[in-house]
Amino acid sequence: MQRTSGAGQDQAPRPGSGAPDTAALEAVFDAAVAADERIEPRDWMPDAYRRTLVRQMAQHAHSEIIGMQPEANWITRAPSLRRKAILMAKVQDEAGHGLYLYSAAETLGTGRDELLDKLHSGRQKYSSIFNYPTLTWADVGAIGWLVDGAAITNQVPLCRCSYGPYARAMIRICKEESFHQRQGYELLLALSRGTEAQHAMAQDAVNRWWWPSLMMFGPPDDESAHSAQSMAWKIKRHSNDELRQRFVDICVPQAESLGLTLPDPELTWNEERGHYDFGPIDWAEFRQVLAGQGPCNDQRITQRRRAHEEGSWVREAAAAHARKHSGVRTEGEAAA
Ligand SMILES: [Fe+2]
Ligand SMILES: [Fe+2]
Repeated sequence: MQRTSGAGQDQAPRPGSGAPDTAALEAVFDAAVAADERIEPRDWMPDAYRRTLVRQMAQHAHSEIIGMQPEANWITRAPSLRRKAILMAKVQDEAGHGLYLYSAAETLGTGRDELLDKLHSGRQKYSSIFNYPTLTWADVGAIGWLVDGAAITNQVPLCRCSYGPYARAMIRICKEESFHQRQGYELLLALSRGTEAQHAMAQDAVNRWWWPSLMMFGPPDDESAHSAQSMAWKIKRHSNDELRQRFVDICVPQAESLGLTLPDPELTWNEERGHYDFGPIDWAEFRQVLAGQGPCNDQRITQRRRAHEEGSWVREAAAAHARKHSGVRTEGEAAA
């Protein structure tokens, strides 16, 4: 049996050819994944694979748009026109990332309205990192360096994810995340080399964002519910702990170059492992924030719901415009 992927052909059985049985379809799917081929929207895929992707892509898309809030908080107070322009471009990029990811999720048959409804009603989550507040201007730098940095570490392997539309969206997103990470680093460097007060502000922001950034990789491997299956499907390529270690190893020398310290007395180079050892993560805090009791959970979701309601006129106007150009008019429009 041939895969019809990529050729734009339907998967439905042709009359007289007999319906392919699920086991045969599954064998084709498994072989494609094993051969590192991409699964495309029209390919047959197991329901659980589709559900896992929708859940992951939705959570990713939600994180992109909720993540706009803590940084947008500083747009009006950016210390210079240059900083303001950079920050506005970054926040706008995050909206674009949300757009690519909602569109990629739509290829699996799940509409954006449905996903946003699940976000607004709390049935789908977003990354818990965005439930922490941005207290000073230096937080914009710490988010760029650490939060976007952790996102890149997580997302670069997703460029090779088995699902084609997700993998392709990630290639573009990762390029933009690299710019975000660099601007955060550069901002912190300027503060670190500035006055004593600026240096202290940068250090304080790093102290507050370091541990939550490590939590972004998710629970330890032995407690991660979805990891093994996602690895088998090649949605995920590396485990949570592997990625977390990679991130720590990248950040330690960068912190030294910044002239800042990381708030972990147990952080030491382990010659034998060839990696940095680090102290225990407060998983109780992680679970608490995930359960909705973080410092800004209510604020974030309230603002998101309000933005959605206030944007309803834009959606209506866009739909009317699309109808007009498709030649199909409602009665009211035809009479006007
Ligand atoms: Fe992003
Ligand atoms: Fe970003």
